[in-house]
Amino acid sequence: MSTKAVLISGANGEIGHGLITRLKERQPDIIIIALDVHPIEKELKRLCHETIVGDILDTVMIDRLAAFYDFSTIYHLAAILSTKAEREPVLGHRVNVDGTLNLLELAARQARATGEQVKFLFPSSIAVYGLPDVATKLKAGKVKESDWLQPRTMYGVNKRYCEELGRYYDHYYRQIDPQPTAGGVDFRAIRFPGLISAHTLPTSGTSDYGPEMLHYAARGEVYDCFVPEGATLPFMTMTDAIEALLSLEAADANKLSQLVYNIRAFSVSAKDFYDTIKKAFPLAKVNFAPDALRQKIVDSWPADVDDSLATAEWGWQPKYDFRRAFEEYLIPAVKSRYAK
Ligand code: SER
Repeated sequence: MSTKAVLISGANGEIGHGLITRLKERQPDIIIIALDVHPIEKELKRLCHETIVGDILDTVMIDRLAAFYDFSTIYHLAAILSTKAEREPVLGHRVNVDGTLNLLELAARQARATGEQVKFLFPSSIAVYGLPDVATKLKAGKVKESDWLQPRTMYGVNKRYCEELGRYYDHYYRQIDPQPTAGGVDFRAIRFPGLISAHTLPTSGTSDYGPEMLHYAARGEVYDCFVPEGATLPFMTMTDAIEALLSLEAADANKLSQLVYNIRAFSVSAKDFYDTIKKAFPLAKVNFAPDALRQKIVDSWPADVDDSLATAEWGWQPKYDFRRAFEEYLIPAVKSRYAK
């Protein structure tokens, strides 16, 4: 008999860290299988039933996983973020698209074998949007799920395509088979804004200037900010991002009219970050030294998104607005992180 488990790919990444901790807190007997290309950190390892150092492109490893476990839910977090995917577009495509395909196939295969649905939670991104210039961005305001879907980065193209792959696996998988497939994949995606964690730093994303500014200030280091003061994106805390994934996972399928939802907590400029960080760390020093090419990517992402569908259909509500995020979570937590 296989064991019912939850699979987390990219488990050692920023979302993975918080998600594993939270899942275990909520349900101590949960069986978590954590997969990452890098060895899973020690304190996370003890929360997991099994940790695997492996690549989502390795189908032999995935077959082995399928033989040992029945997954009720897959959180597919592994990805190459936007800046790295611009430097290595083919690698970005392989990991972000082929890797997602491999895990969707695993979900579909398992659903067929057990006759039960497998939930597939997918973090998409504001990078799926592509606005032509800053003037249009400012005019567009809060962008809806169906607007401006012309991504300009490899990462954005990958995420957008995988949303459609998810729709295929959820709605149309093997649609010409004479017998309908039992089980099926229950695909649910969130388009995340920039995420800010007090405990980890992102690797090679384009919204990284927000969290980097905070961590550099806490370490007493000068930060060279690669966007101008006015650059504006939606953001949220990692805590809220994890709660959102858990809420969408738990949502009643009958209430969900979409497979993909926008969420956000606050829309702020790079200067707003600086001003707030400066209050907590008066010696913080930031040089605004925009990198015109990376800035163009930020300019193509919306300044804010409309998250009303997520609120109406599965009760999405951020716990932290901008002020509370810094005062009650980020500042105290980074201070204690770097005091150690
Ligand atoms: N934070 C991601 C990045 O900057 C976007 O989702 O690549």
